[in-house]
Amino acid sequence: MDNQTIPIVKSTAPLLQEYSEAIGKRFYQLLFGSHPELYHLFNQTNQRRGIQQKALAHSVYAAGEHLDNLDAIRPIITRIAHKHRAIGVVPEQYPIVGEKLIQAVQDVLGSQTNKEILDAWKKAYHYIADIFIGLERDLYEQAESQPGGWRGFRDFVVDRKVKESEVITSFYLKPADGKAIAPYLPGQYLTLRAKIPGEKYDHIRHYSLSDVPGKDYYRITVKREDAHNGYPPGMVSNYLHHQVNEGDMLSFSAPAGDFVLDLENRDPLILISGGVGLTPLLSMLKTTAERQPERQVTFIHAAINGDVHAMKDEVSRLADQNPNIQSYVCYERPTEKDRQARNFDKEGFIDRSWLESIISKPDGTFYLCGPIPFMRVIYRALIEMGIPKNRIHFEAFSPISVLDEKPVKVVG
Ligand SMILES: Cc1cc2nc3c(=O)[nH]c(=O)nc-3n(C[C@H](O)[C@H](O)[C@H](O)COP(=O)(O)OP(=O)(O)OC[C@H]3O[C@@H](n4cnc5c(N)ncnc54)[C@H](O)[C@@H]3O)c2cc1C
Ligand code: HEM
Repeated sequence: MDNQTIPIVKSTAPLLQEYSEAIGKRFYQLLFGSHPELYHLFNQTNQRRGIQQKALAHSVYAAGEHLDNLDAIRPIITRIAHKHRAIGVVPEQYPIVGEKLIQAVQDVLGSQTNKEILDAWKKAYHYIADIFIGLERDLYEQAESQPGGWRGFRDFVVDRKVKESEVITSFYLKPADGKAIAPYLPGQYLTLRAKIPGEKYDHIRHYSLSDVPGKDYYRITVKREDAHNGYPPGMVSNYLHHQVNEGDMLSFSAPAGDFVLDLENRDPLILISGGVGLTPLLSMLKTTAERQPERQVTFIHAAINGDVHAMKDEVSRLADQNPNIQSYVCYERPTEKDRQARNFDKEGFIDRSWLESIISKPDGTFYLCGPIPFMRVIYRALIEMGIPKNRIHFEAFSPISVLDEKPVKVVG
């Protein structure tokens, strides 16, 4: 990147960031206006909720701000590259996105910008795009060349559909071609391309792998998103729950994601999940129990009550069998049945004092997954407890960059 471009981009990044929502909106109008086929790729609910508008534009400007030190935002770049690979973003799409993004900046900022600024941003965009393209090329190659791997989407048969709670159901998936399937790391996800009858476009969604790697099937575990506050029911989760049955076919890209358990690490492991966020952490728990039975694990799960608490038997079986696994349950509003069964350890919300009473492991490695407000509270509590940031890993089931600083603006 040349010395003239960097100062222009860095000094104008805050201005672009300030208008990132408006620029994002304009960008998608332009993008879908000229390339309606891209509706197949983008999550239309995120579009309606305005989440993705902010995420893409915001990250481009964040990258602009760090143009001379992209290593500072390397984890975010890697996470996005995994998503892009999982969805099927290809190099030819980068110039299209770049052109519409610069056009959107020009349309929104008008006289607040000029040719020099726009040219500098064009260069910066191409520089950043080349980094993504390189990373994604490597990820495509890895996904395809590994044993049992594949490129793009592959058909799987729903071998079994198992109800896990009132709102959560697991799907056991076997490859339609009967060949081997790729290994994965606990914490990774599969990406589904759903072709829903009556829908004009595909709907792409990610689902964490919830079982142990090394089986002849993949398992995903899906929460049914019901209609609420006047919003329609979740498109894909309801399709899976109501329309997909055993024997039906679904298409997935190969396992992806960098929120993974490090099996070389022997530090105490603390897994904290809320609601359906337990899926990647359950895979981590089960894999640790199988491959590192001597490792200390604390598994903390929060749910509204016992009726919607999925896979509790699977977790308690592991905890009963292995004295190194401690399992804790927090119910926000326990039912009468829960009270009688005394099947929870805390009522209400997880807070710092409760965490302090059950975790005395500043040398531990923490993994969080759940709704964003839930993870923010826990993240803050852990930081206050003196846990170093680099020991806390998290996965969001929606577009997000960080938990602690202002950039969480990307979340709607
Ligand atoms: C890495 C990753 C892993 C994931 N793993 C899992 C997993 O293991 N299990 C799982 O269940 N999910 C998981 N998810 C979430 C999953 O990908 C889907 O987002 C989820 O199933 C909801 O999809 P949907 O199509 O059913 O809902 P959508 O149609 O996408 O709707 C999402 C929510 O928005 C609401 N909504 C709809 N329209 C609007 C509107 N206009 N304004 C505001 N709100 C609106 C809906 O009521 C619903 O609550 C994961 C996500 C990621 C990114
Ligand atoms: C330098 C350029 C780009 C940047 C900085 C960027 C950034 C992002 C970010 C931040 C996300 C959200 C990640 C998350 O879910 O956590 C995202 C998702 C996505 N990106 Fe990109 N992106 C770029 C280029 C592209 C291109 C060229 C395409 C192809 C058309 C594309 C398609 C998508 C899609 C489909 C998603 C998922 C969005 C959704 O479904 O809600 N991106 N990108």
